[in-house]
Amino acid sequence: MKVLVTDPIADAGLETLRDAGHEVVTGYELAGQDLLDAVADANALIVRSGTEVTAEVFEAAPDLRIVGRAGIGVDNIDIEAATDHGVVVANAPEGNVRAAAEHTVAMTFAVARDIPQAHSRLKDGEWAKGEYLGREVNNKTLGIVGLGRVGQEVAKRLDSLGMDLVVYDPYINEERAAQFGAELVDDLTDCLARADFVTVHTPLLPETEGMIGAEELETMGDAYLINCARGGIVDEDALAEAVENGPVAGAALDVFAEEPLPADSPLLDVDDIVLTPHLGASTEAAQENVAVDTAKQVLAAFADEPVVNA
Ligand code: NAD
Ligand code: MLT
Repeated sequence: MKVLVTDPIADAGLETLRDAGHEVVTGYELAGQDLLDAVADANALIVRSGTEVTAEVFEAAPDLRIVGRAGIGVDNIDIEAATDHGVVVANAPEGNVRAAAEHTVAMTFAVARDIPQAHSRLKDGEWAKGEYLGREVNNKTLGIVGLGRVGQEVAKRLDSLGMDLVVYDPYINEERAAQFGAELVDDLTDCLARADFVTVHTPLLPETEGMIGAEELETMGDAYLINCARGGIVDEDALAEAVENGPVAGAALDVFAEEPLPADSPLLDVDDIVLTPHLGASTEAAQENVAVDTAKQVLAAFADEPVVNA
C-alpha cells in the first residue's frame, strides 16, 4: 500500500509503516495540483494542520482508504467529503495534550512577565530592567473556555500555581468542573468578566468561530487572553485593537485564522501580544506519540480492523 505524508511527522511513525511493508512517500508543503497528483494513487494520507484536505483531494484519490491526522484538530479536513467517498478520517487526540497544555502555561507566563520582549531587548544590548512590571498568576482567577482534554491539563497545572478556576463549557456539568477544582458558569460573559487570565481550549466549529470578538474583549477588561486552540475563535483585528488601545492587558497566541500568519497581520504590530507559530504540539514526545498512533490507525485500516478515533 502507498502512504502519502504531506506534513512532517516523527520518524517513528514513518518507520512503523515501512516496517509493516508499506511504501511511504513524503511530500511536504504540497498544495493545489501537486497535491492532487501526489494523492492520485495513495491508499492512505497522513497530515497535520498544514494540508487542506478538501473535497477535490478526495475526488482525486479513488484508492484512498484513510486520512490520518497526526494531532487533534480535524478542521483542515472536509469530513463530509470523506464520508461521501467512504474514506475513514482518524485523529490522534491523546498524544499531544500535555504538550499543548504546557505551551498554554508557558504562553501565560510569557505574556504576564514580558519574557519575549525583555529577551529581545537584552539580545539587542539593552538592560531594560526598569521597564517591565509583570503580574503573578498566584491568587488570580483563570477563566477556562472549554474544559476538554487540553483545558483539563491546563486547569490542573494552573490550579497548582495558586489560581482560582472558572470554567465556561456548555457540554460539561458542575461535577466535572468541580473535579478540577473549577466553578462552572453558564455563560461566557460571566467567565470573561471574572477572569484575570482567559485560556481558550475549544475546537473551531461554526458555533465557536468568532466567539471572542470586540464585545467579549471589552467584557474581559484588564485581563490577558491566551489562545493555543485554534485561530478563528478569537477575532484577530478586534484583539489587536483591544490590546493596543485597551482594555485588554495582553495576549498570547499560537494559532491563527490564516497560517502561516500573513506579514500584514495587525497582531504583529502590538507589543503586548506574544506570538508563536503553532508550536503547541511541537515537542519530541508529542510528535512521536501522534506519529505512532496515526501509523497504527493506518495499519488497522489496511487490515480492515477497527480504527480508533475514527
Ligand atoms: P476536546 O474536544 O477534548 O475539548 C474541547 C472542549 O471544548 C470540550 O470540553 C467541549 O465541550 C468544549 N466546547 C465545545 N464547544 C464549546 C463552546 N461553544 N464553548 C465552550 N466550550 C466548548 O479538545 P482538546 O483535545 O482539549 O483540544 C482543544 C483545542 O486545542 C482544539 O481546538 C485543538 O485543535 C487544539 N490543539 C491545539 C494544539 C496546538 O498545537 N496549538 C495542540 C493540541 C490541541
Ligand atoms: C492539533 O490539533 O493537534 C494541533 O494543531 C497540533 C498540530 O498538529 O500541529
